[in-house]
Amino acid sequence: MRRPKLDRVANINDLREIARRRTPRIFFDYVDGGSYSEATMRANVTDFDKWGFAPRFLVDVSGRSLNSTILGRPTKLPFMIAPTGLAGMLWPSGEVAGARAANTAGIPLALSTVSICGMEEVAAATSAGFHFQFAMTRDRGLAEAMLERARACGAEAVHFTVDSLIPAMRERDQRNGLRVMTRPSSRTIMGILAKPGWAMTHMPNGKLPRFGNLPPESGRDIIEQTAAFGRVMEPNITWEHLTWLRRTWKGKLVFKGTMTIGDAERAVEEGCDAVVVTNHGGRQLDGNLSSIAVLPRIAEAVGDRTEIIFDSGIRRGTQIAKALALGAHSVMIGRAWLYGLAAGGEAGVALAIRLLADELSITLGSLGLNSIDELRRLGPSLIEPV
Ligand SMILES: Cc1cc2nc3c(=O)[nH]c(=O)nc-3n(C[C@H](O)[C@H](O)[C@H](O)COP(=O)(O)O)c2cc1C
Repeated sequence: MRRPKLDRVANINDLREIARRRTPRIFFDYVDGGSYSEATMRANVTDFDKWGFAPRFLVDVSGRSLNSTILGRPTKLPFMIAPTGLAGMLWPSGEVAGARAANTAGIPLALSTVSICGMEEVAAATSAGFHFQFAMTRDRGLAEAMLERARACGAEAVHFTVDSLIPAMRERDQRNGLRVMTRPSSRTIMGILAKPGWAMTHMPNGKLPRFGNLPPESGRDIIEQTAAFGRVMEPNITWEHLTWLRRTWKGKLVFKGTMTIGDAERAVEEGCDAVVVTNHGGRQLDGNLSSIAVLPRIAEAVGDRTEIIFDSGIRRGTQIAKALALGAHSVMIGRAWLYGLAAGGEAGVALAIRLLADELSITLGSLGLNSIDELRRLGPSLIEPV
């Protein structure tokens, strides 16, 4: 696809704007939207403004570093790429492009079960840490086979996503015809043809791609596969499934979907190595509290017993700094990397990561801090509700 000019991009919102212009509406809205009124999605971003920094000065910060660790692995930055489905619809081999950018930046990437690229090729594109987001199937044999595949391609961690069992109503997807995955309507096809660059690279011969992690017999393309996937998925996951997963998966286990102290404590008791404080980017329960609103109390309750990963609403390095100051050990970025991907492929993801890293570095220095460790330790004394 023709490369857009990225040299005037100043922040993640600029990448979003380029993404909006280049991507067929059906896929841009899939990324950009949230459930129902999108109130939670918006609050995820704006609730960061309810916290302000009280910086200290006259500290030598010339040697500051953003080095960190995520689940024990040294990383160049305290954030990583969140698992997001269908990223490969935004750019050819989109998940591989993301993995390459993550590798160069020295940060891990978590791959969604419903990615376009298969986990083997994505894992092979990075040596900076590969995680796999696992979806529970009714048939335990199938689930074990998926976990074995993830292990064989080097997944260091499995993310167990618990907050998206009830199909969410994203009204933009409803209007665009994405909720019912059937053959595209003429309106959808017109929308796709309105972005010819996209159509030529994503649908050569007019064929839709496949989900790379689902077996060949699951169908010829994402439409057939979505129907097949719906039939094999476990519709009713409970704590018993987490117990099973902890017994079965020997690597690091990440509990993705924590909004209450009770769930966080139970996840720790079940042996999870990390909990993700998240509301799925406001894509599930509309009216949910924002993730940043619940982070301090969950960090206070379990932060000394497990690693806390934070996501939802991160569009700025200042927000990453706030999340770390309020008790997160690291942060995941969802839409921020997808906007970069849709705007410019690997270069766009690299730019998204660099923008966030540069802002974080400036914030760290402006707070009179030299390291991410210091930010975690001294952060609580440098941030206040406004
Ligand atoms: C387009 C899109 C697809 C997503 N797909 C998945 C998924 O397949 N599995 C999963 O665990 N989370 C998924 N998520 C949630 C992200 O992992 C993450 O929690 C969320 O994007 C964080 O919010 P943010 O986008 O505001 O950063 C998806 C998010 C988006 C935006």
